[in-house]
Amino acid sequence: MNKANSQRKKEQLHITLNRAAEVEGVATGLDNYWFVHQALPEIDLASIDLSISIFGKTLSAPLLISSMVGGIEAATDINRNLARAAQAVGLAMGVGSQRCGIDDPGLASTYQVRDVAPDILLFANLGAVQLNYGYSVVECRQALEMIDADGLILHLNPLQEALQNEGNTDFSELLSKIEKVCHELTVPVMVKEVGCGISEAVARKLTEAGVAGIDVAGAGGTIWSEVERHRARTDRENNIAATFASWGIPTADSIQMARRGAPELLLIASGGIRTGLDVAKAIALGADAAGIAAPLLKGASISVEEVIATLQEVIEGLKISMFCIGASNLIELKGSPYLRKESRD
Ligand SMILES: Cc1cc2nc3c(=O)[nH]c(=O)nc-3n(C[C@H](O)[C@H](O)[C@H](O)COP(=O)(O)O)c2cc1C
Repeated sequence: MNKANSQRKKEQLHITLNRAAEVEGVATGLDNYWFVHQALPEIDLASIDLSISIFGKTLSAPLLISSMVGGIEAATDINRNLARAAQAVGLAMGVGSQRCGIDDPGLASTYQVRDVAPDILLFANLGAVQLNYGYSVVECRQALEMIDADGLILHLNPLQEALQNEGNTDFSELLSKIEKVCHELTVPVMVKEVGCGISEAVARKLTEAGVAGIDVAGAGGTIWSEVERHRARTDRENNIAATFASWGIPTADSIQMARRGAPELLLIASGGIRTGLDVAKAIALGADAAGIAAPLLKGASISVEEVIATLQEVIEGLKISMFCIGASNLIELKGSPYLRKESRD
């Protein structure tokens, strides 16, 4: 594998595990919303149904463990703990960008989790921009086969690439290449950002290109400009990365924009989703499910039990949020009339 690529992965993992990659001042916007409490919910908490069917597989709750790692030795245990937790709880998962595993097949095992998670909805992952750097549907198929995935996630990360010394910044005519991949693969193709959000116009273009789903990965959670700032070698690199600390569409806004641009598509809300209440608000704003990345990373580097505990906390919070507004399933939550933005004063 390209040595610079491997070093970059190690540094990014170290920074997200050990230093704050979230910045004061950029919020998801979800805190601006609140649910009108229903003291008479008229439902039984124990009978709330969180299940959802996505691409033919049933999840016990509307949660995706978002794409993170792979391609370095430390990723093996992290991916396997995340996958074991997804299998135990009944959730979906994506692995990190598989470019390293394609360029060096010896690293494929750092992504492989099917043996410990035979039933989960599992997504392969590649940077869409690689379609401008020699990749085609052939590498997309390789990524899918490498991990026996159910679908492919292509990530869009123009800011991240622009802030990297070694970044791939030719994003010209990418949409037509995404469209070709969607048409040539027989499995669903989703597109996600990595922390800057998806606008209405982009959601519309992606819909026309034939993607099966969109994950907004909006601003308010992990911020790649901060990760890149911590990697900066010079004042110049540091200053440019700092300029973009508050860039991006807040997750709450991006959910609504993407929903307007893609009224019928599967919509995942991610970027700063930290609690079950965040998930409930995201769904009431128009998402179908939510994704969580960074908060699961530390636990996954320790044990599967740590990951399960974090996920169960989120699920419990989601259930209680639904209970207190009388929503007995996700369809009722999505159509809930009780989400408010205006002041509570
Ligand atoms: C360590 C780390 C590595 C990541 N690597 C990828 C990646 O390879 N591909 C991708 O699509 N997103 C990647 N992401 C972005 C996440 O999937 C997610 O969109 C983003 O972190 C926002 O979610 P969060 O606020 O819950 O962390 C990564 C995130 C983290 C923390």
